[in-house]
Amino acid sequence: MSVSADHWIGGERVASPQRFTDLSPIDEQPIAEISRGGAREAAQAVAAARKAFPAWARTSKEERARLLHAIADGVDKRADELANVETRDNGALLRSHLRGVMPRVAHNFRFFADWLLGLGHDDFETRGHTNHVSWDPAGVCALITPWNAPLMLATWKIAPALAAGNTVVLKPAEWSPLTASILADITAEAGLPDGVFNVVQGFGAEAGAALVDNPDISRISFTGSVPTARLIGAAAARHLTPVSLELGGKSPLLVMRDADLDLAVDLAVEQYDNAGQVCLACTRLLVAEEVAGEFTERLVERIKALRQGDPRDLATDIGPQIHRKQFDKIDGFVQRAVAEGARAVAGGGPNAELGGLYYRPTLFTEPSKELLREEVFGPVLTLQTFSSEEQAVAMANDTSYGLDALVVTTSEERARRLTPQLVAGTVWVNCFFVRDLRAPFGGSRDSGIGREGGNWSFDFYCDVKNTVSAPWVR
Ligand code: NAI
Ligand code: MG
Repeated sequence: MSVSADHWIGGERVASPQRFTDLSPIDEQPIAEISRGGAREAAQAVAAARKAFPAWARTSKEERARLLHAIADGVDKRADELANVETRDNGALLRSHLRGVMPRVAHNFRFFADWLLGLGHDDFETRGHTNHVSWDPAGVCALITPWNAPLMLATWKIAPALAAGNTVVLKPAEWSPLTASILADITAEAGLPDGVFNVVQGFGAEAGAALVDNPDISRISFTGSVPTARLIGAAAARHLTPVSLELGGKSPLLVMRDADLDLAVDLAVEQYDNAGQVCLACTRLLVAEEVAGEFTERLVERIKALRQGDPRDLATDIGPQIHRKQFDKIDGFVQRAVAEGARAVAGGGPNAELGGLYYRPTLFTEPSKELLREEVFGPVLTLQTFSSEEQAVAMANDTSYGLDALVVTTSEERARRLTPQLVAGTVWVNCFFVRDLRAPFGGSRDSGIGREGGNWSFDFYCDVKNTVSAPWVR
């Protein structure tokens, strides 16, 4: 594997004296010794980004868009390598990386490049005065990203930040640092000027904390857990830095009594994708009591048929969890639930045959309070029944989160009645994960602050300006 283990700062590889070991979830073996950045490297990267900012901000939109398309070309060219490295590094399915994730990574760059060129607003006119709206570059953006979908989630932020004329410092998650490093090479090969894109590797409490506490940062965008979000929000408050937070969820999947059960079971099984390590996963199955028996029976059959194993095997449906710590955390939730009397009708523990970090896809009926409240971030779903639409809505909203919600029904009228009552940034009706990048994405309540996507991304990553001109005397 020829991936640099060092930072990428000002167009150069920078090493730190201290290193940390990056493991593969497939066999828990070391795959790289990564430079462990801290306050010094964060400051160095912000300074490089600051220096590169004025020229990049002045670069024409057309040229910025051209460079983003060149980065997308580079991603397409190296998609196979990126997919394989990502799978080795975070254990998610190679099949998904090849078919869905890497094409989407390239698309992130193409989409925001094209959106930039179309950004515009009709001027407002007041007593002959024109009010002209423009999206000005904001400065240096600090981007902090998680391990569950490393390159996809990072480029979802990097692309609009760069398109908007900002420079970027990315701090990837320490459990999955590698594809960000390849991306740095790709940006250089595409001709992105030095210092426009920077990567600082390291732990959250060191490199991450120093980065967000830097007064020269103009925007912070974070995807990850709620406790970390509170720390980042506090740092942002100290400097009054605008912050966008995409956090976790405990989202509901509602199966109404008129649902197409084939579809409902398909959609429920999809919630085990990425071994359940997906913020959007709708992990609380809420099922109309009229159909609960049949639904549960069919779902359990499907769960048992899921092929668990090496994520590099294209036939595998469920791979390993990312890390021993995450594995133990998941098992803790499951064991406590069992101790409290929850019934696992599928799974319920580690996969003893495979060993390692493989956890059996688990379904609980009569779940414990903790399981219904806390985000597990693993292959653990709960199933509860409801007897009326009102009860379904009340149960769906009975959470501190509000990322998404999914409704399965054959009645358009019912969908129209239900969806406005659900507290969520995204509501899916008879579908999951299909989303237009022009639409807003984000969470309500503890699932986050702000929305990104289309104009919402540019509203966040830009200093939006109104230029008011008095009538010209001719
Ligand atoms: P985390 O929130 O600690 O890590 C996410 C990113 O934040 C990483 O890059 C990390 O290095 C960085 N970070 C950590 N502490 C920081 C600090 N003080 N200042 C600045 N940056 C910091 O999440 P972690 O520990 O990897 O996962 C724990 C839980 O978070 C999961 O079990 C899951 O519940 C949730 N999570 C949610 C994700 C989502 O997509 N919404 C993604 C990953 C985790
Ligand atoms: Mg790793």
